Amino acid sequence: MKNKSLVSIDDYSKDEYIKILDLAAKFEQNPVQDILKGKVIATLFFEPSTRTRLSFESAINRLGGKVIGFSDSSSSSVTKGETIYDTIKIVSNYCDLIVMRHPLEGSARYASEITNVPIINAGDGANQHPTQTLLDMYSIRKTQDKLEDLNLFMVGDLKYGRTVHSLLMAMSKFNTTFNFISPDELKMPDGYKLYLDKIGLKYYEHKDFTDIISRADIIYMTRVQKERFSDPIEYERCKNAYILKNYMLENTKPTMKILHPLPRVNEINVDVDINPKAYYFTQALNGVFVRQAIISSILGLI
Ligand code: CP
Repeated sequence: MKNKSLVSIDDYSKDEYIKILDLAAKFEQNPVQDILKGKVIATLFFEPSTRTRLSFESAINRLGGKVIGFSDSSSSSVTKGETIYDTIKIVSNYCDLIVMRHPLEGSARYASEITNVPIINAGDGANQHPTQTLLDMYSIRKTQDKLEDLNLFMVGDLKYGRTVHSLLMAMSKFNTTFNFISPDELKMPDGYKLYLDKIGLKYYEHKDFTDIISRADIIYMTRVQKERFSDPIEYERCKNAYILKNYMLENTKPTMKILHPLPRVNEINVDVDINPKAYYFTQALNGVFVRQAIISSILGLI
């Protein structure tokens, strides 16, 4: 992992996932340390973020490192026409590691090919969000005591949702049974389903999940992302497709947990928040420890 970019979740092996999760558990026990002293990390967010950027910055600050960067590219020279190429080349002179979010799919891979400074992909369009996946896996392992043989329900925008794409790729290494619940317009892309066929893993597609909810170990809710639709009428048709309410959880397994990468709009009713099966706020906290593990591994400090 040392000096290696993390652009796609497939950049890490199954053993490397486990190493990161084990290390994150150690950071959870002891999150304030000085191991990043003297290190400068750039966070370049060309697209809005609350959790990813702030949990990265919290992780870095708690480990004694310094952060430079921008949370809004309109405050950078991108507005003057500077290219990604030039931006990455220049920022590489100022830091030891770059965390980057960009709306264009493939932008993080491109950035990793033009600099020797490691790049962490903090989300590239509808493609990948690998650090979210590692914190999702950490949350799954912590709540289920295992990663193997789980029944994972993915609900909502499975077409444009980068978090579900990364999570599918990673969890496919743990004999997961996948249930994809989405409207027709937002189905899991064929490429991912062909991949599951190829490796012999079961998946099922549904439009509704009320009748099968008792089978779920994890319900992974996602937001219908207005910003990814080119047709506003299609967004209007899909936006209220799934709204999880507390009464719907009555017949779920006692150990079942609800995850969501957040932000939510209305797909999880606020009455679910008080249910012990709601895990999404703790999931976001776990992001700090997991990102501490990723950064310190890439910088070779552990
Ligand atoms: N989960 C996630 O990526 O949230 P943000 O968009 O707030 O970073």
